[in-house]
Amino acid sequence: MKLTILGTGYVGLVSGTCFAELGHTVTCVDKDAAKINTLLAGQVPIYEPGLEDLVTKNINAKRLSFSNKLADNIPNAEAIFIAVGTPPHPETGRADLKYVEAVIDELAPHLKDNTVIITKSTVPVGTAAALTSRLKKLAPHKKIEVASNPEFLREGAAIGDFMAPDRIVVGCFSDHAKRVMEELYQPLTSQGIPLLITNPESAETIKYAANAFLATKISFINEMANLCEKTNGHIDDVAKGIGLDSRIGEKFLMAGPGYGGSCFPKDTMALTHIAEDHNVDLAIVKATIQSNDQRKHNLAARIINTLKKDRAFPSTITVLGLTFKANTDDMRDSPAITIIQDLVAEGAEIVAYDPEGTNQAKAIFGDTITYATSMEAAVEASTIIAILTEWPEFKELKSHLHDDQSYTVFDYRNLISELRPQDQHHKIGFKTP
Ligand code: UGA
Repeated sequence: MKLTILGTGYVGLVSGTCFAELGHTVTCVDKDAAKINTLLAGQVPIYEPGLEDLVTKNINAKRLSFSNKLADNIPNAEAIFIAVGTPPHPETGRADLKYVEAVIDELAPHLKDNTVIITKSTVPVGTAAALTSRLKKLAPHKKIEVASNPEFLREGAAIGDFMAPDRIVVGCFSDHAKRVMEELYQPLTSQGIPLLITNPESAETIKYAANAFLATKISFINEMANLCEKTNGHIDDVAKGIGLDSRIGEKFLMAGPGYGGSCFPKDTMALTHIAEDHNVDLAIVKATIQSNDQRKHNLAARIINTLKKDRAFPSTITVLGLTFKANTDDMRDSPAITIIQDLVAEGAEIVAYDPEGTNQAKAIFGDTITYATSMEAAVEASTIIAILTEWPEFKELKSHLHDDQSYTVFDYRNLISELRPQDQHHKIGFKTP
């Protein structure tokens, strides 16, 4: 099929490239001409394992191209995906649809009959219906429909998640849109991957509900970790013990410094607003948001209070890991931001190292902290170490520690099973030494 993807951010670029890999002919469109030139040269502006190779492969196979001309790429497309940003509105916290609406307005005059337009961006429940009405006003004589096809990709694992998803969800009104979507995903459904077709409102709700459920699972296990720390329970055993119940499942039960990223914080907040608009109180989702916010402050306070007890605060603290999780350079809503800001506010000096996130971190912290260029250099800066992201190389921490020194390590990702007898090892969900 011939597809046009509007927006070459994370979702647009990964989806467009993977659709090309599935055999479709894809043009990804973005207003930003410099970005398009970079992509045409096979360079990818985001860090995502495997993406650059796949972009180059599909450009060479002539299945993937990039353009900054929206109008040129609308009339020939059988399906058009909208993958532009839906950032939270700075004042209301609601998903801001101005970019989505702008592309709808821009593409409307160029559409041919029966084109299916699909929202891939995460959009409030009711958006497909609202955009369909908007288009009907803009192009009254054409048969046009907006369908919903939420994505469930994780950063750092996006290509695997696209090519082998647990399920594909499509929300549409007409049989025509249903057929187009079935054809589009045929290379995946033929491998047995389930395609769930619902109405657009259900599909839009599924996206938010999935993220809110996973966020709740994380906050739940983090609260159980707090309990274990007081009772001598071990959180990894507790997570395993409940996760082996297939009704609960073992995934997303890793206790840590709280969830971050561009999705869970934004989507849980947006979901509560959507519910409020319908006079529904999502008490569990609200509690999850509050629990996660509090968690980051609590973990910073734990460092400060522990060090104060040993008269070791304020001090220099080595922070290993800044991104919201491993395998990404993304700092958006990373728990490290709140934790570091709380530590700095109390007078700590921070020397931080992250394998991929330093440039993005500089935009947030500026010169309020120091950036080390290697893990080794960061560890040299202090005997107090906080691990905030689960980058695999941090598992080798022990090999960087000096024999004649003792260290205090706040292992907020439970990366290291055991340190040396002379070190203090503060793990999440284990009684404090
Ligand atoms: C999340 C969802 O997992 C994707 O399915 C979804 O498509 C995406 O949001 C989106 O809406 O676009 P992502 O934000 O890339 O993906 O990251 P996750 O791997 O889900 O991690 C989110 C946060 O939860 C991270 O801060 C991570 O460290 C934390 N987490 C995750 C835990 O603390 N414990 C866990 O067991 C799992």
